[in-house]
Amino acid sequence: MCGIVGYIGDKKATPIIVDGLSRLEYRGYDSAGIAVFKDNKVQVEKYEGRLSVLADKVLEKDYNGTIGIGHTRWATHGAPSDANSHPHTDQTGDIAVIHNGIIENYMKLKEWLIEEKGVSFKSETDTEVIAHLINYYYEGDLLDAVFKTIEKMEGAYAIAVVCKDEPDKIVAVRKDSPLIVGLGKGENFLASDIPAILKHTRDVFLIENDEVVLLTKDRVTIYNELRQVQAREIYKVTWDVESAEKEGYEHFMIKEIHEQPKGIHETLNRRLNSEGIIELDEIKITKEDLDKINKIYIVACGTAYHAGLVGKYAIEKFAKIPVNCDIASEFRYRDPFIDENTLFIAVSQSGETLDTLAALREAKRRGARILSVVNVVGSSVARESHDVFYTWAGPEIAVASSKAYTTQLTAMYMIALHMGLTKGALSRERYDEIIAEIGKMPEKVQSILDDFTDIQHLAGTQFNNESVFFMGRGLDIDVAMEGSLKLKEISYINSSAIAAGELKHGTIALIEDGTLVVALATQDKLYEKMLSNIKEVKARGAHVVAIAKEGNKEVEKSADTVIYIPDTMDELAPILSVVPQQLFSYYVAVARGCDVDKPRNLAKSVTVE
Ligand code: F6R
Repeated sequence: MCGIVGYIGDKKATPIIVDGLSRLEYRGYDSAGIAVFKDNKVQVEKYEGRLSVLADKVLEKDYNGTIGIGHTRWATHGAPSDANSHPHTDQTGDIAVIHNGIIENYMKLKEWLIEEKGVSFKSETDTEVIAHLINYYYEGDLLDAVFKTIEKMEGAYAIAVVCKDEPDKIVAVRKDSPLIVGLGKGENFLASDIPAILKHTRDVFLIENDEVVLLTKDRVTIYNELRQVQAREIYKVTWDVESAEKEGYEHFMIKEIHEQPKGIHETLNRRLNSEGIIELDEIKITKEDLDKINKIYIVACGTAYHAGLVGKYAIEKFAKIPVNCDIASEFRYRDPFIDENTLFIAVSQSGETLDTLAALREAKRRGARILSVVNVVGSSVARESHDVFYTWAGPEIAVASSKAYTTQLTAMYMIALHMGLTKGALSRERYDEIIAEIGKMPEKVQSILDDFTDIQHLAGTQFNNESVFFMGRGLDIDVAMEGSLKLKEISYINSSAIAAGELKHGTIALIEDGTLVVALATQDKLYEKMLSNIKEVKARGAHVVAIAKEGNKEVEKSADTVIYIPDTMDELAPILSVVPQQLFSYYVAVARGCDVDKPRNLAKSVTVE
């Protein structure tokens, strides 16, 4: 997803901006560009491809400018190309703009600029429209021109602008796309994400929606849409950029898989009081509120959606409230039945996923109470929710989610238990028993991680498959969906997850000699049924890798390989059964030589529809 970095101060801007952009590479991008001053001109350099392509070209040119803006682009309007990369300039080349997000009415604006103003466009992007509009409104005051321009723009965006005639300022705007300002001494920074500027400062202003910021090297002024100056408290960043680096692991993904015991421990233990009761200070839902809630929607995308499916199961089971779990991009268009007795739970690692955010807004508009389960502090989803449960997974850099998922599961269980106890739907005894078992999860996950070599070996024998099927019953199918997504996104193997009982209704036709089937058989109640399903696919020639609980040895008779997870209660098995699947996907992708941390066509934070 696109990234923004800006610098204004006394140092050379180019190396600072390029370094900042490199901290945002994990978000996914296909081109990069920069605008800095040289010899009283705004110089723009932008190239399709990796940031190193840009860095090689600009770092040797010795731009002397101490102000600049830089961008990594993830294509939306117009294919990845040098011309479509940001920054974009007006006709004079004096005004340069970078932009994250989408300008929805750009076609109308573009036609108007072409027909009425005779502007000729150099790119296929929506962003270029902004540069021309600013030029149209420019009468010697960049801030004023930007204000006038954004009045005409519809959509979600963060933009940053520099202008040749005002070489002592950067103007930036946030509307539904993240933007922060880093505060230095005699210098200031601008970025779409905190890691981009953390090397330079830990003092940050979080810019709100519809705010415009004017940065000079000594001052940062924030305006609301009525051009009134806004006071802002400094947000002190306490986490370390080191934790966003690989620490000796070959890839971020494997590092993050190994960080799961810690993430689960933090998410749980930081919220347990001395009596072992979950205290959710961030959630202000009282017993009276809960008694009124007659329906819950859990809404999310991708992996977070898969965590939501387990959340649905847990809330229905422990709190006895009916739950729908929806894919965010579908939810917002299907006219869901929502009123003030509805609780809407958004699940999102980044907190910036546009589909999730849009669904949240729609639910809020219709009167629902909004609770979010989010990893990134201060993100849009968190800020627009009534109540927030932060998963303390730490920064997740690999595009494929791992530790975010297991901490989301932990969060969902905790929310379900909290609701169950508050409502009186769950006995204190049962509650204590489940909390105690969640408390053992870090150790149990660790034991699976310690035995990684068996899974690595298995991946070494199976990495050449053309397609893989995952199957399970009950909670196992929810986790099988996550296993399947993990494999396809990082190894590019065609995989799908199927409820084992559905096999005979169609999918079994695809099973032939040697087809790899990963069968999850962790649910005691459904174990016998799963054994029959494994036999069904074995009889058609499948090669079966089963995931089962320690002690359930019967499965060895029909599966080719069995991966055991430590014994646990059925309800909590997802936290464990996903781990061998993550490891398997990771080692398969490595064996296939894939770019594990940055799979093709994918982005970490999907801020477009
Ligand atoms: C898959 C993955 C994605 C995200 C999805 C939602 O490994 O990471 O499917 O889960 O894009 O992202 P967030 O959780 O940031 O809303």
